[in-house]
Amino acid sequence: MIETKQPFYLDSFVSVEALDDQSILTLIERALEYKKGTRDMDFSDKYAVNCFFEDSTRTHKSFEMAERKLGMNVLSFDPTTSSVNKGETLYDTLLTLQAIGVDLFVIRHKEVEYYKELIESNSLKAAIVNGGDGAGQHPSQCLLDLMTIYEEFGRFEDLNIAIAGDLRHSRVARSNMQMLNRLGANIFFTGPKQWYDSAFDAYGVYQEMDDLISTVDVMMLLRVQHERHDKTKERFLEEEYLQQYGLTQERENRMRNHSIIMHPAPFNRDVEISGELVECERSRIFNQMENGVYARMAIIEAVLANK
Ligand code: CP
Repeated sequence: MIETKQPFYLDSFVSVEALDDQSILTLIERALEYKKGTRDMDFSDKYAVNCFFEDSTRTHKSFEMAERKLGMNVLSFDPTTSSVNKGETLYDTLLTLQAIGVDLFVIRHKEVEYYKELIESNSLKAAIVNGGDGAGQHPSQCLLDLMTIYEEFGRFEDLNIAIAGDLRHSRVARSNMQMLNRLGANIFFTGPKQWYDSAFDAYGVYQEMDDLISTVDVMMLLRVQHERHDKTKERFLEEEYLQQYGLTQERENRMRNHSIIMHPAPFNRDVEISGELVECERSRIFNQMENGVYARMAIIEAVLANK
């Protein structure tokens, strides 16, 4: 069991790579305590705003659920009806919201590392949590994925974990490959070569899906991110993709008894995963969503603890 009693706080939560292993494990353990109901915090004097400049269902709503479970007050913010449309910058928007009493910002933005300038300013004292920066990182998704794997296996060391699909465009994959490699898992990559980058070689090895499927403990599928593709250059046929790179029923039959399927969602049924497998026995996709609430409670506690 990981010791979580010592004081632990973070100024912000924008990237998991910046955290040491003990901090990651502390966050996971706290998230599991929230899930079991053995941990409780009251932040009813604190105010949160979730600023989502890119679309989201899970991250946006599970942060809101986490905030409400911690007793926080949540102000709504819709960029399409805000003064962003009059040219107000992100920095000025946050300064404004801080001035009226906001303590916590959860931000999703298309610009990679949008948070750097915000954190380097001396004016923003409210906590910043990264809900996803373009094709950069998605650290709260990484934490909930780690929590789901740890909950299942009780360790990371020597687990065989495959990350499959649209690797190049996935901010989830980037954080996960780095962290899982650091925590001792054996990482394998699979999917179309055009979406593979030699930079991934530092964290794992590429193999064909059919060579991997019977050896992995975790099959972590990624969404095909059509919106980030250059459609003039890439030819894409859904049925062909499923048969060549996706998780079909035939491949699922060859997985080890204890192996699990993960996907950050939203999923494209019958593209990266055969539709009927989304809710199959070894799927942990909806457990990931549930764990997202508790992982985010642990993150919020850590960034508000010192405020
Ligand atoms: N997994 C994930 O980030 O989903 P949303 O885009 O719906 O938040």
